[in-house]
Parts: sequence; C-alpha cells; structure tokens
Amino acid sequence: MALIEDIDRLRTQAEAELATVETPDALEQWRIDYLGSKGAVKAAMKQLKDAPPAEKPELGKALNRLKGKLTEAFERRRDALGAGGTPRAAASVEDVTLPGQRPAIGHAHVLSQTIDEISEIFARMGFEVAHGPEVEDERHNFDALNIPSWHPARDELDNFYIDEGTGRPGRTMLRSQTSTIQIRVMETRRPPVRIIAIGRVYRPDTVDATHSFMFHQIEGLYVDEGVTMADLKTCVDQFCKAYFGGDIATRFRPSFFPFTEPSAEVDVWFTYPDGHEDWMELGGCGMVDPNVLAAVDYDAERYTGYAFGLGVERMAMVRHGISDIRLLFANDVRFLRQF
Ligand code: DAH
Repeated sequence: MALIEDIDRLRTQAEAELATVETPDALEQWRIDYLGSKGAVKAAMKQLKDAPPAEKPELGKALNRLKGKLTEAFERRRDALGAGGTPRAAASVEDVTLPGQRPAIGHAHVLSQTIDEISEIFARMGFEVAHGPEVEDERHNFDALNIPSWHPARDELDNFYIDEGTGRPGRTMLRSQTSTIQIRVMETRRPPVRIIAIGRVYRPDTVDATHSFMFHQIEGLYVDEGVTMADLKTCVDQFCKAYFGGDIATRFRPSFFPFTEPSAEVDVWFTYPDGHEDWMELGGCGMVDPNVLAAVDYDAERYTGYAFGLGVERMAMVRHGISDIRLLFANDVRFLRQF
C-alpha cells in the first residue's frame, strides 16, 4: 500500500532537509513542519484510520518509529547547533593563533618579590645569602654586637622576650634586628665572608602607617683584609641605583650604632605619595666595630669589614608608592593583585 512508502519518503525528505538546517530559526521551522501538531507526521497519523484494518498495526508501528527517529534527529541537530547557531562541528575547528587562556594562578606577594629582587642584586655583587633563627638569645641579639647590658635597646618594653631558663645564654627573645646573623655567620666561618641575610624582625611598636610590630630587614656583612668605608659607600650606592633606578640620589649621614664605628644612616630622595619630596631613611651601616670582630675571635688587627641593615618594607614602599605599611600585611587581594 501507499502509506508505507509515504512514510519512507517522508523520513528521507525530512532528514535531507534537516541536514541543511543551520540556524535555530530554521530548526524550529523544521520542527513545526514535521513534528508540530499540524506537521507532516501528525497528518500521516491521521490517515491511519483510513487504512485497511489488517495493515493498521504495522503502519502504526512504522509511524511511531518515524516519529521517534525524527525526534532523535531533531535533538541531535539542536545539540549540534549550540547556542550561537553554529554547528559544533564547525566551532570545534580551533583558531590556533588565538592566545591561550591562562588558568588563574596566584603570584608572589609584593614583599617576596622585593626580597627576591634585592637578593639577586646583591648576588650579582658577590654576596651569598645566609639565614638565622627568628627566636634568638641575647648573645646574638645584643652581647656580641657590642650592645652593653645597660643599653636602652634591651628594655623589656622594646623587645619581645619570650622565655627564661632555657639553658641558652641570656634570655630568649624574638630577634629585634637581623644583625644577629652577622654573629651567627662569623661564629661558624673564617674571613673572607660576604653575606646578606633577609628576614623578619620583631619590635613592640605601636602600629601605624609606617610602623609595624613585625617587619623585614636586609643585613649585609663583608669582612676581609683591607675593606674600607669607600667600599661600603660604593656597595650601598650601587645597590640603590640597581634597585631604584640610576638617577636615585643617596646620602650618608653620620650616626651611631654600637656594632659599627664609624656609623652612618642611608637616605634616598623620595617622592612621597602626597607629592612632596624629601630624604627617606633606608637604614644604618658602618664599619664593623673591632669589639664585634673580637667577640667572634676574628683578628681585628688583620681584618676590617662593613655592615648594613636596611628596611625591606621601606624599599617596597618607595619603589611602588605604597603609603601605608599595613597594606603589606592585610592580605587584601585587591591590593596584592596590583603587583
Ligand atoms: N640593626 C640596626 C637596626 O635595626 C640597623 C643596622 C645599622 C644594621 C648599622 C647594621 C649596621 O648592620 O651596620 O636599627
């Protein structure tokens, strides 16, 4: 009978048309034409009632199969078209010249970047990186650094003393300066030594825009025969030029530290965030005091050395125009992402 062939023809025709469908609108039109309530499949089903009763079951099955196949084909096509109306097969042809999508990974904290950069500059000048503990004893924090027992720097209120009776010489404390590492290095090595050490130091200061109870220092120490103040000035100057840029102005001001003689403070010319310009202190330096060399059994007649201690947060703030030290420790990603 005619209907079975009609069903085959209908399927061939519908599938051929579907293959040419390229847009969501055309697909919807196709659905209406074939699967809609007034579509071709419905129309064929209506004719079923006029078919000879003996053929009805077979025709009924064939019509259901047709409907099922066309519905499946429709869904496949709909999926292939995707949202933009472009068949997925076409979309999957990647444009390999497009830049890749980077996964969002973190990056080093601005202070870590600063520390890395400082270490690298000093490495180029021949300095090794040394380390020392943050929990220290008074010998390394004070005694061996020629800081007498009556010195106000040892005040209970100016230091984080944390324990007594540990068996170590003197009291235990969080180190208040990285100069401790000068002693630790010289205790274990003979000259020449040329090291830097970068790390946290702790002081019970009231926190404000330029003070924190914890901050970082970079300590430098160079001991050898014939080391002079001129070497110190050259080294600090060269470092500042490398870190801040060749046109940075530096200044050495006479100062006093128990562990150096003579001593100086280092300033750089700085444009503050509010626009005014002035010197800003980076830290202290000087020629290692003979008493310090004696404390570690170095021959002070034969060796001389220089040392310096600079504030790392200061440098990061000068370099990046950061006006408040607290921003460096608040860990607000909106701030950190800028660096
Ligand atoms: N330790 C000193 C401070 O924390 C800084 C300093 C000054 C370090 C002079 C030095 C130095 O090595 O020679 O204020």
